[in-house]
Amino acid sequence: MSDFDGQAHVSIICGVKNLNTLEITISSLSNKELFKLKKGKTIAICNQKGGSAKTTTTFNLSFALAEKGKKVLVIDADPQGNLTMCFGVDTPEDLPITLYHLIIAVMEDRKLPDKSEYIISKGNIDLIPCSIELSAVEGNLINATSKKSILRSAILRSVIDEIKADYDYIIIDNMPSLGMLTINALTACDSVLITTTPEYLSAKGLELLLRTIIRVKKKLNPKIVIDGILLTMFKKRTIISREIASLIKETYGDTLRIYDSKIPSSVKVGEANYYNKTIIEYKPDNKVALAYKRFGEEYLSYE
Ligand SMILES: Nc1ncnc2c1ncn2[C@@H]1O[C@H](COP(=O)(O)OP(=O)(O)OP(=O)(O)O)[C@@H](O)[C@H]1O
Ligand SMILES: [Mg+2]
Repeated sequence: MSDFDGQAHVSIICGVKNLNTLEITISSLSNKELFKLKKGKTIAICNQKGGSAKTTTTFNLSFALAEKGKKVLVIDADPQGNLTMCFGVDTPEDLPITLYHLIIAVMEDRKLPDKSEYIISKGNIDLIPCSIELSAVEGNLINATSKKSILRSAILRSVIDEIKADYDYIIIDNMPSLGMLTINALTACDSVLITTTPEYLSAKGLELLLRTIIRVKKKLNPKIVIDGILLTMFKKRTIISREIASLIKETYGDTLRIYDSKIPSSVKVGEANYYNKTIIEYKPDNKVALAYKRFGEEYLSYE
């Protein structure tokens, strides 16, 4: 099996209001069949476009699943550390052990510390935190090979394998890029949940993401499927929101699941972040809270 450099060398046709210029079929990525529930289902939340609500969705979906009695682990795989901050850690760089240290330990073929030394818990949800230090790993992953000769794209998978059995769901919050950290998440996961805002450039970016997932499926992780596409910050009264939603449905709806639940916009989300709370905890009756709860139920209905 060859390795993967994380770069998808494709040209995107711009200027045409057509999202699908893929010559390759995406049907192999479809997860429209019911997913057979197994322990430690690992979900990568991805979109290389910044600000598509990956972190907000990871935080709120994990809460919604935990409310349904699921044991959930979330992994902050974005050096920005936003998810870690959502868990109330104001200075992630002061944490003694983060995802950075676990990845380095695997690369150096050292035993991983006990879970109790690095997991941060919030109610029923566990977090593997990260800090800006993780950005150094991106370069290491490109240049280094581990002593154990673990494929450099499979380092995160080794970290997860150690603790997978303790959880029903493991959700990885990814950075806005398709670099080696995201490739590691795609290699480690069972499925991908794509979040996108209803904007043309976000929707257009799905094509590059899908190409990358197809390449990962071919070279690194044959079992990967796409759970579906979740529209976030959806403003149902605006024409552009409705048009982009239809465009996504027309382009990908036959092959991929487009969730019926759409997450609306509300300033309360920013306030909830400020208080390190999910919107479901902060304002349970807010439209975004209700939408994330509905989405959690919709997500589980396909399992
Ligand atoms: N439904 C929503 N309504 C209003 N604001 C939202 C909503 N969802 C997310 N936001 C806000 O939008 C911004 C981006 O959201 P978030 O950080 O979840 O996106 P992201 O995809 O994780 O970003 P990045 O790519 O930088 O990691 C944040 O300020 C967040 O509070
Ligand atoms: Mg984020």
